[in-house]
Amino acid sequence: MNEFESRKASHIEWALSPASQTSHAAEWARVRLSHCAVPELDFSDVNLTSTFLKKKLSTPFFVSGMTAGHTGANEINLRLAAACAKRGWILGVGSQRRELEQANDQTDVWENLRKQNPKLSVIGNLGASQFIDASPVRIRELMKRLAPDALAIHLNPLQEALQPEGTPQFEGLIKKLIAFRKLAPQVPLLIKETGSGFSSNALKKLARVPGLLALDTSGLGGTHWGRIEGFRAQEKGDAIRAVAAQAFADWGVSTIDSVVNARTAFGTKKTEIWGSGGVRNGVDAAKLIALGAHRVGFARGALEAAQAGKENLELWMETREYELRTALFCTGYSTPMELRLQALKKRDVTYI
Ligand SMILES: Cc1cc2nc3c(=O)[nH]c(=O)nc-3n(C[C@H](O)[C@H](O)[C@H](O)COP(=O)(O)O)c2cc1C
Repeated sequence: MNEFESRKASHIEWALSPASQTSHAAEWARVRLSHCAVPELDFSDVNLTSTFLKKKLSTPFFVSGMTAGHTGANEINLRLAAACAKRGWILGVGSQRRELEQANDQTDVWENLRKQNPKLSVIGNLGASQFIDASPVRIRELMKRLAPDALAIHLNPLQEALQPEGTPQFEGLIKKLIAFRKLAPQVPLLIKETGSGFSSNALKKLARVPGLLALDTSGLGGTHWGRIEGFRAQEKGDAIRAVAAQAFADWGVSTIDSVVNARTAFGTKKTEIWGSGGVRNGVDAAKLIALGAHRVGFARGALEAAQAGKENLELWMETREYELRTALFCTGYSTPMELRLQALKKRDVTYI
């Protein structure tokens, strides 16, 4: 295994460790959905379908982008892709940085993934610091193999600052995003964090980028890259980063606050708000939808389920859907959209 492959493999290993989770900071109890004893609809009337870039999907769920780019992840990616295609979830793939740097890498994986799942909604993925350096032509080339429906640019300043091999270069990001939107308006663009969420001020900067398809909050409360890079730094004997990472073990804006911030910053725009980061089940998902999220995503939970096999993954996904259906039924809403548009106004969701 080369350095890149072993870094990606170690990310997966550490991401699955409970020590890299910030569940205590998710504070799901801050949000309450009110129980409706008189739903006035049948359970079978609950309808989770959504439309994404003119495609009809059976759910408002997505699997957040996770590490691609090494042989061990390929099987998992194909498993996630098949399950997402079957159950109507969007699939985000992990960073495509390696293909950007080595043009012939990953060809087969993405071509297979696409060939096997032609209708799957897929989101490509690139880190902000690689995006800043890459030419728009190269980015469009990169998208050819996977043919994603949209491209996500991920923001991970904390991870880059604490990663022994990190590239913490974000200067010129907003300018580059605005330029890319002008040069490639046909590429739907999504901006995501990676587990540390969004403050109001960060969102104000992003709101200057015209025509963003979606903003995926990926807030504090689940997988934490400050923690993961700290553990990796320790393994590598990088004492400064290992100790510094401990000071940042709970750094970030919670998923709940990030969704509320995003609703304030993007509420009047067409940009969708995607809620993710530490989402454990369909009730958490319903809470984020009631606060303003159009879709809800899972990373670690999906990875863990996928590692346990195809049947286990599909059961895990069906359970998340069942939980969301039940949350809708028991708050008296028949669709996620109704919940999103009406729950706050009717005080069916309260939060502190
Ligand atoms: C193993 C693993 C690899 C990841 N790799 C990427 C990546 O390449 N690009 C990206 O945008 N996010 C990546 N993420 C971050 C997730 O998309 C997500 O934002 C974060 O894990 C928070 O969600 P969670 O709490 O449900 O895990 C990765 C997450 C995991 C668990």
